[in-house]
Amino acid sequence: MAERKSDNITWHEGQVTRADREAICGQRGVTIWLTGLSGSGKSTIAVAAERELIRRGRLAYVLDGDNIRHGLNNNLGFSPEDRTENIRRIGEVSKLFTESGVIVFTSFISPYRSDRDAVRALMGPGDFVEVYVDASLETCESRDVKGLYKKARAGEIPEFTGISAPYEAPESPELVLDTNRQSVEESVERLVEYLDAKGYLSVPSGA
Ligand code: ADX
Repeated sequence: MAERKSDNITWHEGQVTRADREAICGQRGVTIWLTGLSGSGKSTIAVAAERELIRRGRLAYVLDGDNIRHGLNNNLGFSPEDRTENIRRIGEVSKLFTESGVIVFTSFISPYRSDRDAVRALMGPGDFVEVYVDASLETCESRDVKGLYKKARAGEIPEFTGISAPYEAPESPELVLDTNRQSVEESVERLVEYLDAKGYLSVPSGA
């Protein structure tokens, strides 16, 4: 956890509530946290789910590992400390989006259980939905979409998740998508069904 370095700061309250914003969007803000090995299908599922929600007239947004590392987190590498800081920042960004009423899909390996739990603790109840995109190392390595497993096996990428760095699978995720067996379409359907069943795709009653 980064230490707070600023003093003499105060928190300013706004004049609209989260419920006001959610009412405009006709949905409940939430972060759908996809975690899994590189190549498990996180980004593919995230962008397809985002498209499906937009098609249904819902406001969704993807935060993706490779993309965020081009900008906000371009000063971070893949050491355990840097991954923790990567996830901490994304957690804070996700919280802001969630409070603005958006349905956020995050697509980060997020290999450490403690880092994911810290994001869950940061968010309000029901604001964090952990989804384990479950594909075995064998499956991911056989796909090797980016050719990174081959490089990692050849010793060209240090600390590569699943090869030379750990991945800690979630113990009690809200949802598991088994992409060893399921197609992208099936995974997206399961995900959207879950959001619908839990009431995220409509304004909370009484709002
Ligand atoms: S995380 O571990 O900090 O959550 P993140 O999801 O942001 O990782 O980035 C993972 C992506 O970075 C992978 O999909 C892959 O394209 C790329 N990458 C480059 N080096 C590594 C590495 N050593 N371990 C894992 N992924 C890497």
